[in-house]
Amino acid sequence: MNDAEALKKIAGEAACEFVKTGMRVGLGTGSTVRYTVLELGRRMAEEGLDIVGVPTSIATQELATQVGIPLVELGSLDGLDIVIDGTDEFDPQFQLIKGGGAALLREKIVAQQSKAMVVVADDRKQVDCLGAFGIPIEITPFACDVTISVLSSLLNCDVELRTIEGKHVLTDNGNCIADARIGPSIDDPVATEAHILNVAGVVQVGLFNNMCDAVVLASGEGVSTLMNPNGRL
Ligand code: 5RP
Repeated sequence: MNDAEALKKIAGEAACEFVKTGMRVGLGTGSTVRYTVLELGRRMAEEGLDIVGVPTSIATQELATQVGIPLVELGSLDGLDIVIDGTDEFDPQFQLIKGGGAALLREKIVAQQSKAMVVVADDRKQVDCLGAFGIPIEITPFACDVTISVLSSLLNCDVELRTIEGKHVLTDNGNCIADARIGPSIDDPVATEAHILNVAGVVQVGLFNNMCDAVVLASGEGVSTLMNPNGRL
């Protein structure tokens, strides 16, 4: 395991401390929170932890099933106690950019139903100003080129349809993903989110504002938990 992967593992596993028996847990998507899911499964099998989970993607659903975490429909619950998820960037105000794994819509639906959100990250994700990663935006396949053109004018930057090996990336919801190459310049993430959401054709945007309560952060010095002073934890 290389250093970057080791940091993901440290952060992902450490975040399990927030999870207690009886909790309804949102399970995020990505290569960092993957370690959280694996560790929760281990604790259920070996230590008597008893939880139910709601996955934020088909990939996480499959992983959670493999490790024995019972899954339920979000709508069958009266909310979730916590969601643990990864991020692509977080800033000093605990605002996030997510969607590098194209799961942002389900991630945001689950996060909005959670009493608390804990993010797992390594220190490459910590930024002073959001935007270097770009902003992932889930858009409808219908007229996606038109929506991209509108977004490009709105944000005054290149907006690219995400592709892998020449094919459009499709989300678990059958939509496309666009990436706005805005650069580290998002001074007002709340306003930027609202402006993007106002464009017809946009399904959801990967700006997660005022949702994150804590970041479990791994670096070469070890793991630490940054608590949002305005958060719910
Ligand atoms: C998926 C996400 C991921 O949480 C984000 O991309 C971080 O992933 P990783 O831990 O693999 O870097 O938002 O839509």
